Amino acid sequence: MSDLRERAEALDSADELAGLRDLFVLDDTVYLDGNSLGALPRHVPARMQDVITREWGALRIRSWDESGWWTAPERIGDRIAPLVGAAAGQIVVGDSTSVNVFKAVVAASRLAAGGRDEILVDASTFPTDGYLAQSAARMTGHRIVPVAPADVPAALGPRTAVVLLNHVDYRTGRLHDLPGLTAAVRGAGALAVWDLCHSAGALPVGLDAHGVDLAVGCTYKYLNGGPGAPAYLYVAERHQAAFDSPLPGWTSHADPFGMTPGYVPAEGSVRGRVGTPDILSMLALEASLDVWEGVGVEAVRAKSLALTDFFLECVAAYVPEGRVTPVTPAAHAERGSQVSLRCVDADETEPVMRELVARGVVGDLRRPDVLRFGFTPLYVSFADAERAARILAEVLEA
Ligand SMILES: Cc1ncc(COP(=O)(O)O)c(C=O)c1O
Repeated sequence: MSDLRERAEALDSADELAGLRDLFVLDDTVYLDGNSLGALPRHVPARMQDVITREWGALRIRSWDESGWWTAPERIGDRIAPLVGAAAGQIVVGDSTSVNVFKAVVAASRLAAGGRDEILVDASTFPTDGYLAQSAARMTGHRIVPVAPADVPAALGPRTAVVLLNHVDYRTGRLHDLPGLTAAVRGAGALAVWDLCHSAGALPVGLDAHGVDLAVGCTYKYLNGGPGAPAYLYVAERHQAAFDSPLPGWTSHADPFGMTPGYVPAEGSVRGRVGTPDILSMLALEASLDVWEGVGVEAVRAKSLALTDFFLECVAAYVPEGRVTPVTPAAHAERGSQVSLRCVDADETEPVMRELVARGVVGDLRRPDVLRFGFTPLYVSFADAERAARILAEVLEA
């Protein structure tokens, strides 16, 4: 056991990203739930104090212009862009991921060639994507076809309009092959829409390099934007001129203050906007993105894989044989930034997680039997990984 503690210490001293931990508000807890809600960057409260007292309190309406509120959705989109491999001008921030899934699926089905009436949806998708795709299909006269991501190439055909996929599975932590699946979808003449909630900020995405058509993602997980922070919508530049939003609100109008009855869409990523942006949440997100200054996503990915490898090794060494089974793939090419362990006795999953939290290890669970541990490389250490596995073993032995 002390071997692994020594290894953790050595790994932490060699870790080039270790200093970033000081940028966050952390305590003695081992926080492994950044895949649900990222930790608070230390400087954000002071920035929000300024936003509230000066920009809102003193400047009031003037801040839409003088404090850059009006253009925040595109400006912050451009800050997120390098983290997901997108050139500037293709991402707009606003609304929830759910709302952006709806915009993306409807818009993609409108972009698809005529005669294509099927929307393929990841059969293991986060539920909201499935619900919204179903509603989108009812509105647009398409048919939903649930397909496991690995089976997408075989399911593609002349009727496929759109394929909606999750980059990383929220339950298992499995990373899907975005480059290969996008190429297959586009090769079949359809459009690929990706949900990046569990990959953005944890691993390279390469939206432009891999020719993704549209994408959505949240900012409150690995991007640490805060509870309910606004999501984002990526529309590849080649689709922007024909992008026909199902929610064409006034802030996406070419001349929003012209207040004309007829809708004329703005050019570029602005077209993905709907109504008045949620400024307080949006500016908290903008401030939180400062922690990425000088940090490369490749380095983050390397640490994420090292952390999850090490955690799996500690679990194998400490946890009594047969009590948990990893459902996250061992292969790096198939692993996101979380480790999911199936608790062999499903009835114990909830008490085990409750006890872990009581002992200072915060993960979460997905019913009936999956314990999830998210590894945010910006602030999780190897010592955290070792301690979490050790306490998990103690809980399971008790
Ligand atoms: C993969 C995925 N998609 C969509 C959502 C829904 O996001 P929201 O509730 O912000 O709309 C989540 C939320 O956790 C998610 O994990």
